[in-house]
Amino acid sequence: MKSNSELLARRQAAVARGVASATTIFADQADNARITDVEGRSYIDFVSGIGVVATGHRHPKVMAAVERQMKRFTHTAFQVNMYEPYIELAEKLNALAPFKGPAKSVLFTTGAEAIENAVKIARVATGRQAVIAFSHAFHGRTLLTSTLTGKIQPYKQRTGAPAPEIYRLPFPAAHSGVTLKNLQDALDELFFSDVEPTRVAAMIIEPVQGEGGFNPVTPEVFRLLRQRCDQHGILLIADEIQSGLGRAGRMFAIEHSGVEPDLVAVAKALAGGFPLAGVIGRASIMDAVEPGGLGGTYGGSPLGCAAALAVLDVIREDNLLERATLIGKRVRAAIEPLMQASSGIPIANLRGLGAMVGFDVMKARGGNEPDGPMVKKILATALKNGLLCIGCGVHGETIRLLVPLTISDEDLASGLAILTDAIARPE
Ligand SMILES: Cc1ncc(COP(=O)(O)O)c(C=O)c1O
Repeated sequence: MKSNSELLARRQAAVARGVASATTIFADQADNARITDVEGRSYIDFVSGIGVVATGHRHPKVMAAVERQMKRFTHTAFQVNMYEPYIELAEKLNALAPFKGPAKSVLFTTGAEAIENAVKIARVATGRQAVIAFSHAFHGRTLLTSTLTGKIQPYKQRTGAPAPEIYRLPFPAAHSGVTLKNLQDALDELFFSDVEPTRVAAMIIEPVQGEGGFNPVTPEVFRLLRQRCDQHGILLIADEIQSGLGRAGRMFAIEHSGVEPDLVAVAKALAGGFPLAGVIGRASIMDAVEPGGLGGTYGGSPLGCAAALAVLDVIREDNLLERATLIGKRVRAAIEPLMQASSGIPIANLRGLGAMVGFDVMKARGGNEPDGPMVKKILATALKNGLLCIGCGVHGETIRLLVPLTISDEDLASGLAILTDAIARPE
């Protein structure tokens, strides 16, 4: 049997340092909400491969669909030989699009690729160059997406010139002190001093910020952005890569606001563990790019499409939207008492939508100084006790829960007990 420490030594010798891993656990097997490591230890998984296996590890229906597809063909390149699963998935995504009117979709492989292409489509459709992103956003690690990402360390220090024509606005989060009025003023100032709105192709925002701290965009903020976009002919791009496909209790988190985006980027949960991403958008916008301008060798892989079609079935058949809402309620019920407690590690700012829930660890009760190092300690204690969970946030102060939506009641309760215990007694 291999050991984690033996594999870690090989990893350190063979793999570039720039790929960071949150734990030193090497997976051997994964089933629904459990990961077993190479030493035979089973962990409850509150990470879902960073929001990917919302339908659980190796959901039987997803596995069966991929196996069926594998027996027929695994790759032809959609640009050469087309195949029905790509079309069927596009049809289903178009029907789910969180806006009225005709939709079209295009498929890729990774989230960053979906964002790159959403911006490309927006630029071509509007004939404009500038793009507005938000502070503490995360949109990926390629040149364009890391420029859109609102955090230098560790994503873009010493990486050279950023992509051009990217502007930034403050993200209004309830506990960050940035209000709707601050955003409104910053928007006016941006249009006054840095970029005229007629040069702006798109605004891009995560309906619930992921890496930045699980901060939901309020309906008021969405209405303001939509109003300014409409006023100036700017497109609104929703990055639903982490928040979409059921995680937030709706198919897309932006649906909570009642505001319609023009383009939506999806990835992660879309194919239940197989690499697949997409952009769904208003048909007139999507068709702006000339044939050949979109795509990629692996874009819309047949295996990914087969998996995604099964994932969409599972979300519907297993009522995973309701399940996400229920999971969110159970998480809140477990964490709320810790926020009220007069002793123990100070917890604050419990927030999120559906099962996309996070909270902050603070240095002092009632204070506003975040405690990133304490999050690390809590997560290490939880791991020692059999729970995989990760943090996020500007200072690493947020504990985020990305529980598989298919998790059993027992594993959810046991995982929450391990987490609350680790918060009460971090080692
Ligand atoms: C909101 C959001 N956008 C984009 C990305 C980038 O996706 P990928 O890592 O697949 O390139 C991520 C990944 O975490 C994300 O959470």
